[in-house]
Amino acid sequence: MQCIDVRKVDKFVGKTVCLQGWAYNFRSSTGTVKKEPRSPSGYELTVSDISVVYRAEAYPIAKKEHGTEFLFDHRHLWVRSSRQAAVLRIRDQVIWSLRSFLRERGFTLTDTPILTPTSCEGTTTLFETDYFGEKAYLAQSGQLYLEALAASLGKVYDFGPTFRAEKSKTRRHLMEFWMLDAEVAFMHHDESLELQEALIERVVQDALTQSAKELTLLERDVVHLKNVHAPFHRITYDDAVSLLKEKGSDITLGQDLGADDETKLSEEFDRPVFITHYPAAIKAFYMKPDPMNPTRALCADLIATEGYGEIIGGSERIDDLALLERRFKEHKLPRKPFEWYLDLRRYGSFPHSGFGIGLERVVTWIAGLPHVREAIPFPRLLNRLQP
Ligand code: 4AD
Ligand code: MG
Repeated sequence: MQCIDVRKVDKFVGKTVCLQGWAYNFRSSTGTVKKEPRSPSGYELTVSDISVVYRAEAYPIAKKEHGTEFLFDHRHLWVRSSRQAAVLRIRDQVIWSLRSFLRERGFTLTDTPILTPTSCEGTTTLFETDYFGEKAYLAQSGQLYLEALAASLGKVYDFGPTFRAEKSKTRRHLMEFWMLDAEVAFMHHDESLELQEALIERVVQDALTQSAKELTLLERDVVHLKNVHAPFHRITYDDAVSLLKEKGSDITLGQDLGADDETKLSEEFDRPVFITHYPAAIKAFYMKPDPMNPTRALCADLIATEGYGEIIGGSERIDDLALLERRFKEHKLPRKPFEWYLDLRRYGSFPHSGFGIGLERVVTWIAGLPHVREAIPFPRLLNRLQP
């Protein structure tokens, strides 16, 4: 008797087989495979023999409703459920789409360090650790290192875990999340937006075809996702603030957008929207000022549809040494650990732009999840390091 994996059952219709797989955790069953449209899997096994593989204790997760905390306490078992497995398969699909797209466009994958001597996205959300008597921080983004690698390879990206000690408990924040940073030499802000929208279009359209089964199982209404084609909408920060005020937000010019503001904006658009030209003062030190209005930065956040919030943050980078040095002073950043970064301008500088995508935010949006914590196998949250 041939023992087969349930995922490959289609090839064995009409044959007598022994079935094993995650859905058959505790038994292996022998029988004849039949196509059965009424079955959730599309197949049925006319069983002729069952053997017990393992005698398990009563399973803690029952068919009844469990509280969220209970389910996350049992995340190591909860991942066996069909809904959770579907989300993780969508995550896998998104990763492969991102990688394939960038590879086809001539990008080189260049990984950046996790243990770093500096911050990238501000000092308030750093995880600090001891590095043999020296202070080290877990990477918030690989961007600064990617800028060095873009000078060597032109088009580069990294993809790995990043860390933010954000004391926020929102449905969009993880302490540990996966980020793909991309950086391109001689690419300006506008071209970067075109690259970002092409990438997101590809990821979403791939998911609609490759993960159709999973999206159906999750009962995801895909009407909005089908609309995700370039070009996306673009609105400046100033116009976004005016629009939000009209819609009753109490945001004032100069303030960053809150999660509610992002949700309100996404309701206005049928496709994702780039919010461009934020005030330089509320954005990171490395962002290039707009030559037409230096109080604004050549940057954009990409806001997903249906209130899922920011999925990409990106900008053109300051390529002028003197200006970058001034920014270090303004942001009160220590010079010494960043000398290597200043070298990138000192020894041959060039225009360049890049962006970072939060993987779990994209998966949450595509899968239509209520919270980003279901988009990663083992989430790290403000109140959760277990399991
Ligand atoms: O907008 P962020 O902070 O941008 C950067 O870190 C840049 N250095 C990236 C670059 O230009 N290479 O983060 C990028 C994305 C966000 O748009 C969001 O999708 C995700 O990372 N992100 C988070 N995802 C989950 N939990 C958090 N706490 C996140 N913080 C950011
Ligand atoms: Mg951001």
